[in-house]
Amino acid sequence: MVSRYREVYEAWQRDPQAFWAAAAGGIDWYTPWTQVFDAKAGVYGRWFPGATCNVCHNAVDRHLETRPGQAALIYDSPVTGSRGEWSYTELLAEVQAMAAVLADHGVTKGDRVVLYMPMVPEAVFAMLACARLGAVHSVVFGGFAAAELATRIDDARPKLVVSASCGIEPSRVVAYKPLLDHAIELARHKPDACLILQRPQLAATLVEGRDADLGALVTAARDAGREVPCVPVAATDPLYVLYTSGTTGQPKGVVRDCGGHMVTLKWSMSAIYGLEPGEVFFTASDVGWVVGHSYIVYGPLLHGCTTVLFEGKPVGTPDAGTFWRIVAEYGVAALFTAPTAFRAIKKEDPEGKKIGDYDLSGFRTLFLAGERADPDTVQWAERILGVPVVDHWWQTETGWPIAANPAGLGLLPVKYGSPTVAMPGYAVEVVDDGGHPVAPGTLSNIVIKLPLPPGCLPTLWGDDERFRSGYLDDFPGFYKTSDAGYVDEDGYLFIMSRTDDIINVAGHRLSTGSMEGVLSAHPAVAECAVIGVADALKGQVPCGLVVLKSGVDRPTADIERELVERVREQIGPVAAFKLAITVERLPKTRSGKILRATIRQLADGEPPRVPATIDDAAVLPEIETALRGRGLAKPVP
Ligand code: COA
Ligand code: AMP
Repeated sequence: MVSRYREVYEAWQRDPQAFWAAAAGGIDWYTPWTQVFDAKAGVYGRWFPGATCNVCHNAVDRHLETRPGQAALIYDSPVTGSRGEWSYTELLAEVQAMAAVLADHGVTKGDRVVLYMPMVPEAVFAMLACARLGAVHSVVFGGFAAAELATRIDDARPKLVVSASCGIEPSRVVAYKPLLDHAIELARHKPDACLILQRPQLAATLVEGRDADLGALVTAARDAGREVPCVPVAATDPLYVLYTSGTTGQPKGVVRDCGGHMVTLKWSMSAIYGLEPGEVFFTASDVGWVVGHSYIVYGPLLHGCTTVLFEGKPVGTPDAGTFWRIVAEYGVAALFTAPTAFRAIKKEDPEGKKIGDYDLSGFRTLFLAGERADPDTVQWAERILGVPVVDHWWQTETGWPIAANPAGLGLLPVKYGSPTVAMPGYAVEVVDDGGHPVAPGTLSNIVIKLPLPPGCLPTLWGDDERFRSGYLDDFPGFYKTSDAGYVDEDGYLFIMSRTDDIINVAGHRLSTGSMEGVLSAHPAVAECAVIGVADALKGQVPCGLVVLKSGVDRPTADIERELVERVREQIGPVAAFKLAITVERLPKTRSGKILRATIRQLADGEPPRVPATIDDAAVLPEIETALRGRGLAKPVP
């Protein structure tokens, strides 16, 4: 099939408003928009002002006419040995019961609800129930610790928290409730109530007067046949706030609106992912990340697909064939995960032998995102699966792909290491620090011309100013992606690294600045630097170099152990911070700036680029020796 990509991209370029107005035809609106795009509203303009809609209606209710008995949600949990399936009709009943419980606790339009949940169906029901009521959900990933949860509670100021007694990791049962209790203790804002899903693996103690048993309440509401109508909201009203790592360590509340978000997700399901309504989409991520929001929950349901919610890991639950089992059992047409999952599978089953156990004949495309997809992994996946592998690039902020190889429009030739080309909606440019376009092949800042398309963040929660200063001020007229890369002569994008302190660990976005904050708060630490070092499985892992205060005479190994524990306790296990190394001093410029990039190059076994402004180059061999002592400073295979 000849790709229609150029034709479609040019149609968008010719008339962006007509393009998105046509795409909006795929959505049910209560009242139409007064303008497709109002350039004067909001920080850089707003999409579909004047329109009213409800996301839950579009994701659930409206499919009852055409596909009432079709599976909407499949839950597959090898870690608990359970599974379940809900048709669109059954999903509506669950969501109405959940919405009734939230409404009974006073949740109304515009209220925030924090969801701190493992990968259970109730997480999806709760997200949709919030949408139904016009409330704003904020899902916090379960691998974050109490302090991170507390920061999010303080920023979102939720009326309610919905959580569970525990999450299940292959190695342990993670008690969520003590983390939640501690977070509420730490937070200045106190939610009115916490609704706790008691899981059989570990019961939580409920705090009297504040906590309630979610399961019991939902069962009662369901048995009573409670019906809760969809609340019409403005297309520009927020659907959710999702916090993501920011450069200062204070997470940024990415706001997603209702209308534009539905339009672009629905459009992407067919144009980018190449799926028809009724087909099965399996996104192996977590509802705590943007990939989970967009392509476990909203995208597939808005499109009338069946979505798979997987509580497990690509390996070890029970083996490297788990993904293939799911694809075969449920007739999955497309799988979306992070490259790190495939590196994990490749390590366990290098020949892909497990695939032979399953019938994957209905499987068409593998999508990878969340971190750079290394060519080795992409080619390996192509070889073992025999289907196209699409690397695509996006961010929490955009909510849907900026660049992809659009399966639904017809695939373009693949260039390994490139997520292919900009999608309609995105005018991507590579510019120098002064904002001037650079020649093809030149590595520099990647920016997107304003306005951003529908579905991208209109602002940060309660902080227009931080949105402007963090994303819009450096390159006037453009959105700064904070990714560096280049475009080649054919317009293919190559995304190489971040320009800020963010690192990407197993597809999880983390701020080294916030880890430095934890390390420097230790009483023995004088100064520190956290860098992301290359890792064959996780892409990057953090490594902290610390200089101790003079006079500290405790064994360095003890202090290093405490530092590792502190990051785990204060940020969470997801940070995967396992390496603290004591050094005598850190390399700096004459003005005192720590040379983190130079340390990273040393750690990765690359020839370090040493700036002329280095204060004392003699420190570099010292650092290299310290890194070597921990198995670093050599190239990663
Ligand atoms: N709740 C509590 N703890 C969690 C958690 C959760 N939801 N998710 C992860 N953790 C913990 C893990 O148990 C682990 O703890 P440990 O240090 O005690 O072992 C730690 O956080 C790091 O987790 P993770 O990065 O997932 O590493 P892993 O070694 O458990 O698994 C992979 C490695 C590659 C298999 C795993 O990262 C993976 O499946 N990645 C898929 C990519 C993905 O989902 N990306 C999201 C964006 S698309
Ligand atoms: P997140 O907001 O967690 O989705 O992380 C977004 C960041 O992950 C981007 O800014 C990139 O740095 C990185 N990223 C995501 N997808 C890709 C990709 N396909 N190639 C390279 N980097 C990616």
